Amino acid sequence: MIRLAASLWLVAAPAFATSGAALFEAHCASCHAAARGAPAGAGPNLAGLSGRAVGGDPAFDYSPALQAARAAGEAWDEGRLRRFLDDPEATYPGLWMGGTSLRGTADVAAVVAYLMGGSER
Ligand code: HEC
Repeated sequence: MIRLAASLWLVAAPAFATSGAALFEAHCASCHAAARGAPAGAGPNLAGLSGRAVGGDPAFDYSPALQAARAAGEAWDEGRLRRFLDDPEATYPGLWMGGTSLRGTADVAAVVAYLMGGSER
């Protein structure tokens, strides 16, 4: 068991550069597409999220909570996305997305970097 954990670590560690994408696949892709032009699923498409209006996928029917944020002129940046993923319900009470299964600031940071399209860090 210990040996297995150690070898998993060895496999995972060099893959850090892609971990944001891998985490997104594991925790978000069941509801969200991240490819431009892909249809909305249970959740909105998240392509090009950096600078995009909150509630900004025209193909998605958002909750009143996110529609209100959009009407208030809010847009996604790194800080907002990080706060959101730390606690979606506290950021937008009444949101139609349950808490995420992401755990820990490192994983949140990796997914934020992935979605913001910046360098992985
Ligand atoms: C069970 C389905 C589901 C999962 C899993 C899920 N989401 Fe969501 N997400 C939603 C729904 C539904 C909405 C729209 C909520 C609303 O309208 O209130 C949403 C909204 C969002 C928004 C706001 C988008 C916008 O256009 O303003 C972001 C950002 C987001 N999710 C990121 C994530 C990330 C990152 C993950 C993985 C860590 C994730 N979500 C996991 C269903 C999900």
